[in-house]
Amino acid sequence: MIQFPQLNRAARAALESEGRFPGKWETMAELEVVADGALARLRTRRAELAAGGSWGERARTLVDRLLWTERLEYLDRDDVSAARKQRIVHALHRMNQGLLSYHRFLHHLRPAIEHVARRERRAARVLELASGSGEFTLALGRLAARKGLPVEVTGSDIVPAYVADANIRAEARRLPVRFVELNAFDLLSTLTPGDYDIYFIAQSIHHFSAGQLAMMVAQAGLAGARHFVGIDGRRGLLMAVGLPMFTALSLQPDFVHDAAITARRFYSEAELALIADLAAPDADVSVARAEPGYSVLHVRY
Ligand SMILES: C[S@@+](CC[C@H](N)C(=O)[O-])C[C@H]1O[C@@H](n2cnc3c(N)ncnc32)[C@H](O)[C@@H]1O
Repeated sequence: MIQFPQLNRAARAALESEGRFPGKWETMAELEVVADGALARLRTRRAELAAGGSWGERARTLVDRLLWTERLEYLDRDDVSAARKQRIVHALHRMNQGLLSYHRFLHHLRPAIEHVARRERRAARVLELASGSGEFTLALGRLAARKGLPVEVTGSDIVPAYVADANIRAEARRLPVRFVELNAFDLLSTLTPGDYDIYFIAQSIHHFSAGQLAMMVAQAGLAGARHFVGIDGRRGLLMAVGLPMFTALSLQPDFVHDAAITARRFYSEAELALIADLAAPDADVSVARAEPGYSVLHVRY
């Protein structure tokens, strides 16, 4: 309802026809500024087009604008303790288990894994960014160890406590998986080009600004990735209302608080495509809807 595929297409075409859109960049600092600016310009032009459109279009644009929030999730706030954040990521893990999310994530990641394994004749090396509890990385490691999935997997997050805790669980479960501390939009200061074939991020894209997401996609390409796969909730009114209600079943107010903000900050699919096209102009970018309620960004470098 608030994806606006036609409006976004028209707004982007109009901006491109005027020239200098989405903009040029050479350094990461320039990319961040250009991506933030391009997204803002797309949203402004979209609103202008909607203002001259039908009553329905104007109403949907208003709903979209009212939904957007600058508020931050507890997970992103410096004044919230690591232990409290950890309870939230574990509640998310339990929701992921209940919704069979890890099977769904694998479904979207598997073609990239098989593509790399076939092409390189070795296991595909996957880096999960913003892995939180680390349970998807661990599930992939288990599939590699027990079912022969051709993959070597590393998890990463910016929060040291999650990384330490996930490493302990990997060791306790005797899984060939490790977790490292990593800022997802500052990859090049830590990684050596060629370290990983596939960069994967789940349910976290909305934690990043357009500029940060653009840097992530561009840096994965510069670090030698063949694929970047990003899965996030799909922007929509049903999701904005339904997700907090669903998470209320967890009886964890902090988790419900974050879910209510999460659903208001998802990018639309056209916005994700714009950001990735700008960050990786020579790559093949696609963004698809996936049930139940996901958008999947796939960049093939
Ligand atoms: C909603 S959780 C998602 C966790 C996990 N991917 C999942 O699906 O269960 C968002 C994660 O993004 C991480 N994060 C936020 N900013 C980050 C950054 N700059 N670099 C790496 N991770 C970051 C948070 O620490 C948190 O673990």
